[in-house]
Amino acid sequence: MKRDQQHVPLYQKLTKFSETKPISFHVPGHKNGAVFPSYAKQSFAGLLSLDLTELTGLDDLHAPHGVIAEAEELAADFFGADHTFFLVGGSTAGNIAMILVACSAGEEIIVQRNSHKSIINGLELGGANPVFITPEYDQSVGRYTSPSIATLERALQQHSDAKAVVLTYPDYFGKTYNLKKMIELAHDYHIPVLVDEAHGVHFSLGAPFPLSALEMGADIVVQSAHKMAPAMTMSSYLHMNTERIAKERVAHYLQMLQSSSPSYPLMASLDIARSFLATITSVQIKAVKDSVNQVRGIFKSAKMWSLLPVAESDDFLKLTLHMKQGISGYEVACKFEQAGVYPELATHNQVLFIHGLQPFQQIEQLKKVVKSVDEQLKICESRATIDITNLFPQKVQMLELTYQLMNQLETKVLSFYKAVGNVAAEAIIPYPPGIPLILQGERITSEHILIIEQLIKQGVTIQHRDITNGIRVFNR
Ligand SMILES: Cc1ncc(COP(=O)(O)O)c(C=O)c1O
Repeated sequence: MKRDQQHVPLYQKLTKFSETKPISFHVPGHKNGAVFPSYAKQSFAGLLSLDLTELTGLDDLHAPHGVIAEAEELAADFFGADHTFFLVGGSTAGNIAMILVACSAGEEIIVQRNSHKSIINGLELGGANPVFITPEYDQSVGRYTSPSIATLERALQQHSDAKAVVLTYPDYFGKTYNLKKMIELAHDYHIPVLVDEAHGVHFSLGAPFPLSALEMGADIVVQSAHKMAPAMTMSSYLHMNTERIAKERVAHYLQMLQSSSPSYPLMASLDIARSFLATITSVQIKAVKDSVNQVRGIFKSAKMWSLLPVAESDDFLKLTLHMKQGISGYEVACKFEQAGVYPELATHNQVLFIHGLQPFQQIEQLKKVVKSVDEQLKICESRATIDITNLFPQKVQMLELTYQLMNQLETKVLSFYKAVGNVAAEAIIPYPPGIPLILQGERITSEHILIIEQLIKQGVTIQHRDITNGIRVFNR
């Protein structure tokens, strides 16, 4: 029997509990919002009244059997999973957990090279032996997207004992690929497929959105509800649909990786986001699509960039501006921000805007800002185009050292050109999108250095530290 997807049991339980005006002699220390500095009390009041803890009747995320279990079951029902776990540590926690479950120290695991750093961190934490499959450079969108089917096939043939295949679907820009075929290929080798679908929580809405990874047979799928659905930041789902991996093992790692005091507002927002997606109507989706087209029309009116077309199989909520040669994506994003319009991310040649799941309201304001940014931009003849088409010469690539060995080696910082030929002791991660340009354990090439230098010139943020002094390498 289909469940009532309007129902938001966890949210309702919290609001009902709060209405009883309970007296708190327990944590958290804000005592349902009573103990809080007055200057911030008003903004936080509503949320603090729901910021409860594992009180009688409110269940426990790490051993759910009551209202959290009910909310997770409703999510599994809507997303088409055997089981859904609520995550309060973002997709980051889910990605790390799924890797730790699938693969023990020293075991091989096939991983898409342009994965988010949470995947790479999961590999390191587990001491896995990653087999990286490199993405193809897609001329039509001017960036690396997904590995080809042939590359995965080759990796599977060469590493048929691999414990899992880890893929990202869609990419940050909403681009999809034939994931179904890849899942089938891996399953032919009895290898489970773990999908980082951080940007695709809304794909379960069906057409006109792309197919979801669960629909295509993935074993584990992690989604950031907070990215594309109306959920609070850090709220994510981990779905399972598999007999290849035990649910208890996933639960075990999640209770290790996530707080023992998980946030109830975050969990309630997962309940609400699921109900929002499950009850949205086709008329509402059409209105969103019409709004996207209107916004696209505004961005298209500019001269200094082109708006990348979106294929039917891709996510139409993502709008990517591709800069004319000599214009930096970072500079354009900066100009939009100065005018009060905040895009999702910029790269050296693109700026990504994400449309929400309801019609956009500030049309006239956006028109003015687009016109003004377009007029302010000037082509800078001296700005070299960053050629990244040769970044990943090897289709299937292993690290130079195991994580176990890396843990034992001394490191040193070398200036960029001296670092060439050495093995990187740190990942270099332009942020966003948080995808490593150089992996820890990878040999540094002059190509890497050229790109880093150009990115720094254009103002990219490299996460963690000031990279201008050089790169940390292993002292061998
Ligand atoms: C592809 C991808 N996976 C995982 C993550 C991490 O997600 P979260 O912020 O929910 O931890 C991100 C974040 O940007 C991402 O882009």
